[in-house]
Amino acid sequence: MTDILDARWPAVDSANPGGADATWWRQAAVYQIYPRSFADSNGDGIGDLPGITAKVPYLRRLGIDAVWLSPFYPSALADGGYDVDDYRDVDPKLGTLQDFDAMVTALHEAGIKLIVDIVPNHTSDRHEWFKAALAAPKGSAERDRYIFRDGLGDNGEQPPADWQSIFGGPAWEPVGDGQWYMHHFATEQPDLNWKNQEVRSDFLKTLRFWSDRGVDGFRVDVAHGCAKELPEVLPSQAELDAMENADGTHPLWDRDEVHEIYAQWREVFNEYDPPRTAVAEAWVPTPQRRHRYASAEGLGQAFNFDLLEADFEADQFREIISSNLGQAKEAGSSTTWVFSNHDVVRHATRYGLPPRGGAGTKQGTDWLLSGGTVPQLDAETGLRRARAATLLMLALPGSAYLYQGEELGLNEVADIPEAERQDPSFFRNPGKDIGRDGCRVPLPWTSAGPSFGFSDTTSHLPQPAWFGDYSVEREDADPTSTLAFYRQALALRGTLQTDEELEWIDAGSTDVLHYRRPNGWESVTNFSTRSRPLPEGEVLAASSPLGDGTLPAETTVWLKR
Ligand code: GLC
Ligand code: CA
Repeated sequence: MTDILDARWPAVDSANPGGADATWWRQAAVYQIYPRSFADSNGDGIGDLPGITAKVPYLRRLGIDAVWLSPFYPSALADGGYDVDDYRDVDPKLGTLQDFDAMVTALHEAGIKLIVDIVPNHTSDRHEWFKAALAAPKGSAERDRYIFRDGLGDNGEQPPADWQSIFGGPAWEPVGDGQWYMHHFATEQPDLNWKNQEVRSDFLKTLRFWSDRGVDGFRVDVAHGCAKELPEVLPSQAELDAMENADGTHPLWDRDEVHEIYAQWREVFNEYDPPRTAVAEAWVPTPQRRHRYASAEGLGQAFNFDLLEADFEADQFREIISSNLGQAKEAGSSTTWVFSNHDVVRHATRYGLPPRGGAGTKQGTDWLLSGGTVPQLDAETGLRRARAATLLMLALPGSAYLYQGEELGLNEVADIPEAERQDPSFFRNPGKDIGRDGCRVPLPWTSAGPSFGFSDTTSHLPQPAWFGDYSVEREDADPTSTLAFYRQALALRGTLQTDEELEWIDAGSTDVLHYRRPNGWESVTNFSTRSRPLPEGEVLAASSPLGDGTLPAETTVWLKR
């Protein structure tokens, strides 16, 4: 196998990381950092910005092109930071603006771009605007920045509608004077009114604030939710559920006019050189609708969660890859690929759990998120498939999004005690949803010691004893580790990534996917549980050990011909 790690590290022009190349994002490997759970520099048990800065050498060695940083803004953490008190500051628990600047400099010096999360659908209930809205009367300009409605009943004591929030429980909250406000997520996350011009212009100010500080791009939270059109008489939840939501007219989601907002944002992005980039988090029903967010006049790129939602199955993968590459091309964008993030069960675990409803139904996730008795995890199978899927993904045209800890092969932590859980989707769904804390447990940096090197003291979510086996320290010393595998694959990807073309090769078997990139780089994945013939070519990388010259079960290899 080729070891080209050194070739991957050319001298970096720190004034201009990555060159003035305006298309750096099209095929970037982007690593998501969930800051509170990455590295703690000051022993308070909460990961912070200086903690990230101290790990820049680790990120550089990993071989990623960019970091996506989940929210680091002042927040009461009602939803892990997606409840923002102030969009233009750093949470004092995580550091200062100076710490942010130092982090940007360190990343850029290492040739790594920075994408920050921006949360436009809702503020937190501690935002100045929301405090002002509560202090002001009904019908005021202050209330117009949010979505207020009169309650039903003689004194407005009934909610204006029976809508349910996404985290469970009611989506309307009373404020004590007969009015109620709408929140798609937690009660502490009031939705903004994007028809309000002040809301629009303030976000442009925020985009410039961070762009001026050197941020290279933005990940746009719940991008499909901002535009809303609430009729005078509100529909019921059942009526909402029955509404067509694939034609741009749903009252709450993916409305056509949401793109007017992002066209304005694009003008701001294009004030910079290179233009700032953006990627939409838009859970919309079809790739066609999704790629509207990815147009050059809009955000430019959109998350594609299709592989994340698929089983480890050749036909599903093939169809998803073909359709998304086609759609992205039509939109003039490049697609994105992702298996894990801070909202879902880690893919090494998903792939190690049986389908919940038996053959033909979805794998993994439901078991864990709904709690109850989880079947025995087959960790070995889960990791073997996860590595195969990741290697397949890393050879695809488009951007690959990786989530902190997947490079260690980490599993979901399923058994966090109730008293220690933090996710609002757990609290708002008693007995029904155990929430997303299991993928947010702080990383193990060392094999032993307090909080496995995450902090000098403790960790804000408890780490299980087995975390030590997945530590950076242990995997760094093991050339067969998942960390070594990610490093090798990312280094190779950096040298091999080429035009955004892909050609399918007939593998002679329906459970093998084989494709070629224009420069002769090939990826072959055997999805079956039996070995298959290994196609000819120089083997560059493999997701599991190749023994007897065949392609092992549930394995991907990269070949060069
Ligand atoms: C997005 C985030 C998720 C958050 C939600 C509300 O889906 O990824 O973590 O809870 O938006 O902001
Ligand atoms: Ca800290």
